[in-house]
Amino acid sequence: MSKIAVVYWSGTGNTEAMAKAVLRGAQNKGASAELFEASAFEAEKLAGLDAVAFGCPAMGSEALEDGEFEPMFESCKPALKGKTIALFGSYGWGDGEWMRTWEDDCRASGAVLACDSVICNDAPDDEALEACKALGAALA
Ligand SMILES: Cc1cc2nc3c(=O)[nH]c(=O)nc-3n(C[C@H](O)[C@H](O)[C@H](O)COP(=O)(O)O)c2cc1C
Repeated sequence: MSKIAVVYWSGTGNTEAMAKAVLRGAQNKGASAELFEASAFEAEKLAGLDAVAFGCPAMGSEALEDGEFEPMFESCKPALKGKTIALFGSYGWGDGEWMRTWEDDCRASGAVLACDSVICNDAPDDEALEACKALGAALA
């Protein structure tokens, strides 16, 4: 059984709803999957995981949330080399630039992106939630 963590930050609940759908998708596929808020996750946990889904909305100016998520993610980066991950998050007025930058950063760190990232505008609709479940299933 693969062991998966879904690690997210969410200010107004949109990325949290996505994270819960990712979790369901992984669990439906038979994975042992656990949900973590960014502040409750640390790099030391990565060694015991087969795959990780990271979720963060577009914040700042097309950037990751810099109070909790980014410091946590930066501390994980050295351990992401060769690790299977997938990315998701909600955005507002932009065009998804933050996710493209984040994907490039992950690839540069040697992480293996298991599937296309899932982004959605504001609250996830049914289609976005299904895409999140598929992302969880792909990691499992
Ligand atoms: C401080 C702040 C900065 C933001 N910056 C961006 C941005 O650069 N690009 C964008 O598309 N949306 C931006 N947004 C909109 C959020 O990404 C959007 O509201 C998203 O749905 C929030 O997700 P959450 O409910 O998981 O917090 C910003 C929102 C806030 C509060």
